[in-house]
Amino acid sequence: MKKIECYIQPFDFDTVAHAMAVEGVVGMSVTEVRGFGVQRGFHRGEEAPPGEYRFHPKMKVEMVVSDADVERIVQAIQDSLKSHMIGEGKIFISPVEDAIRTRTGERGEAAIH
Ligand SMILES: Nc1ncnc2c1ncn2[C@@H]1O[C@H](COP(=O)(O)OP(=O)(O)OP(=O)(O)O)[C@@H](O)[C@H]1O
Ligand SMILES: [Mg+2]
Repeated sequence: MKKIECYIQPFDFDTVAHAMAVEGVVGMSVTEVRGFGVQRGFHRGEEAPPGEYRFHPKMKVEMVVSDADVERIVQAIQDSLKSHMIGEGKIFISPVEDAIRTRTGERGEAAIH
């Protein structure tokens, strides 16, 4: 299992969530966050002065999925984001050791399907 954690623009959230539903994603957590990337939050032709940064509102979307589904889902996220502007988003993928459905005690893959 892998966790796909992506940071996207709030205005892109509905599009991404719809694409995930089409891909059959059956679990997702969403958090409103603030963040910056390589430009340290200076996005309109300004260069970030040394040591300065600006946080911008982003949505963090987290999904734990089967290994076999990762590339398809990552591609669907990228395809659903069309602005291609600086600050569009970033995706992180990390290993997940186990999962537990508390109600039944099912573990691993059985807990996420
Ligand atoms: N290294 C990081 N660690 C944690 N969060 C990050 C990291 N990089 C980006 N983020 C999150 O992702 C959001 C979007 O990042 P962003 O798209 O600006 O990445 P970038 O690498 O600067 O690419 P671009 O050049 O397109 O702006 C940030 O606002 C932040 O919330
Ligand atoms: Mg950036």
